[in-house]
Amino acid sequence: MAEKSTRRSGAVIMASLIALLGSLAYIMLLAVINGSLGFICAMGVPLAGAMAIAKAMGEHIPLSYGFLIALAVGCGVLRGLLRYFEQYGNHYIAFRLLAVLRDKIFGALRTLCPAKLEGKQKGSIIAMITSDIETLEVFYAHTISPICIAVIVSGAVVIFVGVVSSWYLALIALLGYIAVGIVAPMISSGKLKASGVRYRGEFASFNAYFLDSIKGIKDIVLNNAGEMRKEEVNRRSDLLLGETKKMKHDITRAGAATELMVSLFIFAALTAGIILVHMEMLSLGRMIIGVVAVFGSFGPVIAISALPGNLTQTFASGDRMLDLLAEKPAVTPVENGRKFHFEDLKVTGLDFSYDGDTQILADVCMHARKGEIIGIVGESGCGKSTLLKLLLRFWQKSHGQIAYNGTDIEQIDTDSLLDNVTMVSQVTYLFDETIADNLRIAKPGATDAELEEACRMASVHNFIMTLPDGYDTRVGALGDNLSAGEKQRLGLARAFLRGSDLILLDEPTSNVDSINEGMILKALRQQKNKKSIILVSHRESTMAVADRIYRVKNGRLYESK
Ligand SMILES: Nc1ncnc2c1ncn2[C@@H]1O[C@H](COP(=O)(O)OP(=O)(O)OP(=O)(O)O)[C@@H](O)[C@H]1O
Ligand SMILES: [Mg+2]
Repeated sequence: MAEKSTRRSGAVIMASLIALLGSLAYIMLLAVINGSLGFICAMGVPLAGAMAIAKAMGEHIPLSYGFLIALAVGCGVLRGLLRYFEQYGNHYIAFRLLAVLRDKIFGALRTLCPAKLEGKQKGSIIAMITSDIETLEVFYAHTISPICIAVIVSGAVVIFVGVVSSWYLALIALLGYIAVGIVAPMISSGKLKASGVRYRGEFASFNAYFLDSIKGIKDIVLNNAGEMRKEEVNRRSDLLLGETKKMKHDITRAGAATELMVSLFIFAALTAGIILVHMEMLSLGRMIIGVVAVFGSFGPVIAISALPGNLTQTFASGDRMLDLLAEKPAVTPVENGRKFHFEDLKVTGLDFSYDGDTQILADVCMHARKGEIIGIVGESGCGKSTLLKLLLRFWQKSHGQIAYNGTDIEQIDTDSLLDNVTMVSQVTYLFDETIADNLRIAKPGATDAELEEACRMASVHNFIMTLPDGYDTRVGALGDNLSAGEKQRLGLARAFLRGSDLILLDEPTSNVDSINEGMILKALRQQKNKKSIILVSHRESTMAVADRIYRVKNGRLYESK
């Protein structure tokens, strides 16, 4: 998904992210006001002092000394409170929004699932839920309000210095803000962006390689490839270190340039002030007030100049998230569609292709009635699993009809479809919960007796009883110790427990020995009268249980037997 979409510009990402603020925008406004007033209060402390000095030098200041002292103290105290409220507001928004965004992402995943979440995209989605969302915290808590605050505070200082002291000093301050807050970040951002992108690229690649090595450690040991892997890890680690150093170097240089620029503008303001006093265009007292105001006013623009490094990362995260939210599901769930109780399935003229080019299934026709076991055989990669997924509408068929009780699948309510049809896929995922919890996702209120019955049918009850806590054994506690066949049988037990009238079994016995297979097939045969079962398998022994068999060849289905 991410790689397909066109990149958005920074401004578009920012606008889209701000639009997500919604009703929280007024809290953001409060935070900005608090932050701006906070900075102004911070400047108020030295300014009150400067005014007191100016007054002592005979300048006409219509404020008493007592008031000026109270102003300094008041500003100091208020500064703290206002800063607190600003930070509180920003973080309140940020974390509230993160919760909302997570919710939106899970919502998006729910509709995209399962078709668009197969394979390679899984990793990037996990990254999104964990790190991208966290990165956006920086945007909401530490980006929008600093920019607004810098504009407001700088504007206020320019006007204050212009009115109270001199418009020349105000002009120097304005130039300083533009240089530090806009020009400098624009110059450095290109460089910082490039080094940031290289660093994150190396970081991601190092992490992926390292995690992959840990996951595949068994195969590394089996192939005696440890030394080679270690060398590669070291090489990549050195590369990462190099990129980190370069990035830190660039950031430090940009920071130093900013500080230097600030010092230069303060020096320029002071020099200009002295010249103005010399030329008798400004009194000494007002010069001191003006210069002190300029001195203390660079904080907000320095904060902005520190943003670009963070921002590129934030925009990349924001971009990925907007991509996911904009991603169209392969199929849209049917709400308020036709509900049904499975009696028969009829597939006619079904065509399907994943990418629009390679035809996987062509003109497929098949049917199944209640009480039948249908076998589907065919070589690996011929499209058997694909057919089962289409029967559950995980993907959109290209042409043809898939009709349940005579109603096309497109008109059937998605919930009703999932209630009537259950699939046991080739790989069963077990959650890190107890065996019983893992089974109950198929039927939340199932009694212990129901669990046991389903497990007996799937020929896994005896195995569960050998576990330390029986049905209450945590799957995580077993580590990877469940065999492929045990997992497969637990998947089958889920399907039996769910009790749907049409069960799709994708290689249900591929990892099971012949004794257990026999027991499972017997259970299937016993179920037969009440249900319909579509069974995909390579094994002829499994197919013995089928009433009718379809063979897949070149994307077409041929009935045999
Ligand atoms: N999500 C997908 N996107 C694109 N192509 C896919 C996708 N899933 C499967 N394919 C391709 O479609 C073809 C049919 O895959 P399918 O999984 O249906 O085969 P199968 O008959 O079940 O094979 P096996 O017996 O090995 O399980 C394969 O060439 C596979 O690579
Ligand atoms: Mg398959």
